[in-house]
Amino acid sequence: MNVSSAGPREVPGPAAVVTGVGSHLPPRRVTNDELCSRLDSSDEWIRERIGIQERRRADAAVSTGDLALEAARRAMRSAGVTDVDALVLATTTPDHHCPATAPAVAHRLGLQDAVAFDVTAGCAGFVHASAVAAGLISAGSARRVLVVGAETMSAIIDSDDRATAPLFGDGAGAVVLEAGLRGQDGCLGPFAWGSDGSLADAIVIPAGGARARDRRDTAPAGDFFVHMRGNEVFRHAVRRMSQAARDAVLAAGWTLDEVDRLIVHQANGRIGASVADALGIPAERTPSNIARVGNTAAASVPLLLAHAADEGRLKPGHRVLVVAFGSGLAWAATTLVWPPGVTAEL
Ligand code: UT7
Repeated sequence: MNVSSAGPREVPGPAAVVTGVGSHLPPRRVTNDELCSRLDSSDEWIRERIGIQERRRADAAVSTGDLALEAARRAMRSAGVTDVDALVLATTTPDHHCPATAPAVAHRLGLQDAVAFDVTAGCAGFVHASAVAAGLISAGSARRVLVVGAETMSAIIDSDDRATAPLFGDGAGAVVLEAGLRGQDGCLGPFAWGSDGSLADAIVIPAGGARARDRRDTAPAGDFFVHMRGNEVFRHAVRRMSQAARDAVLAAGWTLDEVDRLIVHQANGRIGASVADALGIPAERTPSNIARVGNTAAASVPLLLAHAADEGRLKPGHRVLVVAFGSGLAWAATTLVWPPGVTAEL
């Protein structure tokens, strides 16, 4: 379901309130110059056209589940909790096709019998997972939910493909959501979200799935990596994120000029700037960390929340608009007032 421009929307049941935020980046930095030693590209092109100076890359022994585990631990520490009822993990790069990555992360966190499952909505995955978690809370199915976005994009990116290699990085971020009162600071507002599967092939890994199982032994190696029609995706990203952001603001009963901070998926610096421009939100209200971490897909939004809170660019009382977009195509937006007393654990 997508939210139309129907105006403020009441959501029944308890609210989902942010009580903790954490993040984790693998230590290895990959500069544009290092990438360009094997790509027909340049540091100058990547800085100007994408806004990235460096991204992180996990060692081969480190998986998405490992990054998720660290971010989850930090979010729980930030919230001051040792247990949750459910863990929802957004990722495009699960440790295995089967099983989901979330149960193993929950097990390693010591969460006995917790509900744990993955959500796949590309770079919009974390906001989708937050919507699912908020639904669990408002339905009374869980009181406290850990929502994690984690990616090892280096596992699915061809480092010889200049259309994708400069863009993506590895990392993880997480938040703890707890049942609270509607209207309370930290409470997630209504979600505006949707998908357009007619453009499923705009960002796709052609081989390795059930659709291409008859080509398992014959597909070229490059078909096991992400293929993206970047320019087309760029245009849809700006259009869909701008509309979803407007819908979420309207559903919250806010106006765009009341937004203090726009947390936009760090897809490409120019995409974030175009969305902010379309919404009339000035650059100083649009924190960004893409220069340092690149596009970390489902980890992008929680990483930016953690970094912006840590650097004081996100302060208690700020009205925050969150929006993301990715493969599917899929998009999602929501709102919250940044809560007092939440210290990001990096
Ligand atoms: O995270 C959610 C999903 N992903 C995204 O939202 C990513 C969206 N797309 C993008 O960020 C951009 O489209 C890219 C960064 C992927 C590409 O930037 P662009 O400005 O859209 O470039 P383009 O594809 O329109 O290509 C413009 C020119 C072309 O050369 P000609 O034909 O004009 O001579 C490309 O061949 O730039 C060339 N080009 C490059 N040159 C140097 C494309 N990639 C590169 C590169 N280095 N890495």
